[in-house]
Amino acid sequence: MTDERTSATLPHMCGIVGYVGNRPAVSIVLDGLRRLEYRGYDSAGIAVVDGDVVLTEKRAGKLANLEKALTERAADGIATGCTAIGHTRWATHGGPTDRNAHPHLSGDGRVAVIHNGIIENFARLRAELEAGGAEFRSDTDTECAAHLLAAEMRALRESGCADGPQLLAEGMRRTVRRLEGAFTLLAVDVLVPDAVVGARRNSPLVVGRGAGENYLASDVSAFIEHTREAVELGQDQVVLITPAGIEISDFQGNPATGKDFHIDWDASAAEKGGYDYFMLKEIAEQPQAIADTLLGRLSERGDIVLDEVRLTDQDLRDVDKVFIIACGTAYHSGMVAKYAIEHWVRIPCEVELASEFRYRDPVLDRSTLVIAISQSGETMDTLMALRHAKEQKARVLAICNTNGSTIPRESDAVLYTHGGPEIAVASTKAFLTQLVACYLIGLHLAQIRGVMYADEVASVVSRLQTIPDQLRDLLAGMEDVRALARDLKTASTVLFIGRHVGFPVALEGALKLKELAYMHAEGFAAGELKHGPIALIDQGTPVVCVVPSPAGRGVLRDKVVSNIQEVRARGARTIVIAEEGDDAVAPYADHLILVPRTPTLLAPLMTTVPLQILACEIAAARGHDVDQPRNLAKSVTVE
Ligand code: M6R
Repeated sequence: MTDERTSATLPHMCGIVGYVGNRPAVSIVLDGLRRLEYRGYDSAGIAVVDGDVVLTEKRAGKLANLEKALTERAADGIATGCTAIGHTRWATHGGPTDRNAHPHLSGDGRVAVIHNGIIENFARLRAELEAGGAEFRSDTDTECAAHLLAAEMRALRESGCADGPQLLAEGMRRTVRRLEGAFTLLAVDVLVPDAVVGARRNSPLVVGRGAGENYLASDVSAFIEHTREAVELGQDQVVLITPAGIEISDFQGNPATGKDFHIDWDASAAEKGGYDYFMLKEIAEQPQAIADTLLGRLSERGDIVLDEVRLTDQDLRDVDKVFIIACGTAYHSGMVAKYAIEHWVRIPCEVELASEFRYRDPVLDRSTLVIAISQSGETMDTLMALRHAKEQKARVLAICNTNGSTIPRESDAVLYTHGGPEIAVASTKAFLTQLVACYLIGLHLAQIRGVMYADEVASVVSRLQTIPDQLRDLLAGMEDVRALARDLKTASTVLFIGRHVGFPVALEGALKLKELAYMHAEGFAAGELKHGPIALIDQGTPVVCVVPSPAGRGVLRDKVVSNIQEVRARGARTIVIAEEGDDAVAPYADHLILVPRTPTLLAPLMTTVPLQILACEIAAARGHDVDQPRNLAKSVTVE
């Protein structure tokens, strides 16, 4: 794995491009946005410095809507400026509308800002800025940065600092020092016409080095047709580009350096960040996707913060039963949620395949909470189940990755997973972020209903916060799983077993293998083996066994170990996924895959990952199109 692949292309929802040079900037930035559209595509916008104004255009929907609007405006000179920033958006704060599309302007219209990421303290900043007279024109967190930057620039000018690119860089440094969360920001100021300033914290930003012109972008694919010389920025750095050069500093203003590199990928490899498939890229993005989904969810008092909750605390206290409805991978996340919700909240929780839900006349009323889980927010089966629940007067809470999609729009409340766009048909980062969202909802319910103390909730949240680093460690050691995949590519069937939260993991592992490798694969509750499936075991049949933590319920783990022995005794080739330190399982494993230790209920965040890699690599070894498996669609909008 090259350095560029790991650091320049970590996830995030939006695509950003900046250009400064001697050529008309609009077409260059638009070309860049076209290349980045795969990152997010619910709206797009551009700001061009032209003479003494910043001209902006932004549109909800595909990039084509922006292009059309720009063509209509060509006469007002928007196409002639040589400094511009542009953005394709994957909404987090604020729905995907024209007014929420980036760029966002300061009150005086001089400063334009685009942003990728989540500003965690935006509510506090917004209140402070509004108290100082700022008028907000959008629902985004980004607009805070535009008002803050303009205020800093004004203060610097009033204190006698000379106008020029250095002033813009200092204004940005002062701004980002006030921000919490993850962000890449780009900004232009009409009084500093030949400069674009950028900043990054936990969100990607790369510089493209040209001759008499320079670029900024969330990944190199945006400028690859203009230059192949790039600079990778470090964490917490500010970069100033002018036609003459590139200057990098830290957030305090100390000079800093980036890492120069030459891009030798073609354009399509660049889109995938150097990975062979979007799926592999999305698997690698999971630590960041989880961190983003957790960002801003804990209030200063330690309460869980949900988005767009049109349910009162009393509504949630009145809930006497939870139904989870979802399909495919999202259904598996719901199965895990059942264990967590019943354990933490102590109310009954049923999980239903959305396609079955309304046909069996479920008993629902106002005190039933229905949780609809969907990455796309458009799955017809889930939508119809949701509508059925609403007709029965149940309250519906959506967990969704796509801001503004139909399922969250029709729900009473929504918790967005901040996984960023998932391009590969096989769901990976959506699954893990759905799990995180389910945990957060379970903890929120438990807290509101008084069955868990704030410190108990905070302790689970703090364990969740360590998951991204643990996942990075796990992902760094997947070579053996890849080798195993090559070995298994000719197997005629692969079985998966697990108990408790390991059972949905077994189902998810089998689903991944079916949809990608077109192999017969089945997941079972390990206790069910003796009731029939054990007859499938033949000499050499691969059986993937998900072992619960011995630190959880010892009896559960021991039962799975017995199941492993049972299948082994009948000739199975056992692939055992167990927790680091659980050495006692080694004698029963033909292949042992160790994952970092986690609390029992959080274990699927680890144990699923080797199964994603296994399926992806087996599919690749069998010569299949990993990102677009046959007969499948990313968003299933028919029943
Ligand atoms: O967009 P949704 O989460 O509602 O999609 C649900 C399923 O169609 C989806 O998870 C599907 O099972 C995936 N292809 C599995 O990888």
